[in-house]
Amino acid sequence: MKHAIQVKKLRKEFNKKAALEDVDFEVYQGEIFGLLGPSGSGKTTTIKILTGELKKTSGNVSVLDMKPDLFTSSDFKSQIGILSDNSTLYERLTVYDNLKLFCKLYNAPLQQIDEVLIQVNLKNDSKKVVSKLSKGMKQRVLLAKALIHKPKLIFLDEPTSALDPGNMAHIHQGLRALNKAGTTIFLTTHNMEEATELCDRVAFLHKGQIQELDKPDDLRYKYSNNTFHIETFSGEKLEIENVPENAEQIKELIIEGSVKRMYTDNPTLGQIFLKVTGRELV
Ligand SMILES: Nc1ncnc2c1ncn2[C@@H]1O[C@H](COP(=O)(O)OP(=O)(O)O)[C@@H](O)[C@H]1O
Ligand SMILES: [Mg+2]
Repeated sequence: MKHAIQVKKLRKEFNKKAALEDVDFEVYQGEIFGLLGPSGSGKTTTIKILTGELKKTSGNVSVLDMKPDLFTSSDFKSQIGILSDNSTLYERLTVYDNLKLFCKLYNAPLQQIDEVLIQVNLKNDSKKVVSKLSKGMKQRVLLAKALIHKPKLIFLDEPTSALDPGNMAHIHQGLRALNKAGTTIFLTTHNMEEATELCDRVAFLHKGQIQELDKPDDLRYKYSNNTFHIETFSGEKLEIENVPENAEQIKELIIEGSVKRMYTDNPTLGQIFLKVTGRELV
């Protein structure tokens, strides 16, 4: 599969102190990739290096087959979209007029405005002045801005942190549709439900390195304790290891008709993060 992003031995120091020590990962074209880590772990720093806003200290980085010396070129900028905490809007203009300006900036057709407004659930708010919008609505306008020129690859730095569950679900739906249509998505989050729900693969960033990288389901399987939890009608709670020797015992419980509920207990990404790093994902 072709790579959208390649990062090898990436190091970034601020005042001689390493924020990223030795970061390695690759993002395939067409996937939704999540970089997970607690506050201060270096997620934003990574995005800023990949989008040309910060220079790496050492290591190799390439994005859409371009090296960092091209990250300031208009060719690069036309192919990527960014939503970060320093994305800004014109507060005194309407939602629509903001997007119109960004359309002009990127030479994108104005018809795309309506399309993007639907994606971010703002179709009925396009005439509102940005300064009057809630934080969550502004965040959705910023997302619209990041998408307005139909970039191949979008970087979303904690895109839904200001959103309520309803709007978060709507944004997720929009991102999935965008991804289906071929856009590669790189996002950072400390929201494990978001990562599980949305990402094809996730990487755990901690202590300046990637500590784990895999599909959410595969990680949940890898860190499961391989045990059946069985609740019986008489109120018993059994934990039986998933090994051949226990098959008879489980079979008997089923034949007796005493199994009320049986499940395997795959840990959540948050629990796995804690296990791998010793830190909560907050
Ligand atoms: N411009 C900067 N100058 C000095 N230190 C910085 C700068 N930007 C980030 N850092 C430090 O780098 C580390 C990673 O920060 P950041 O990438 O913002 O983490 P995250 O986005 O995961 O919360 C933190 O310790 C932060 O204080
Ligand atoms: Mg950050």
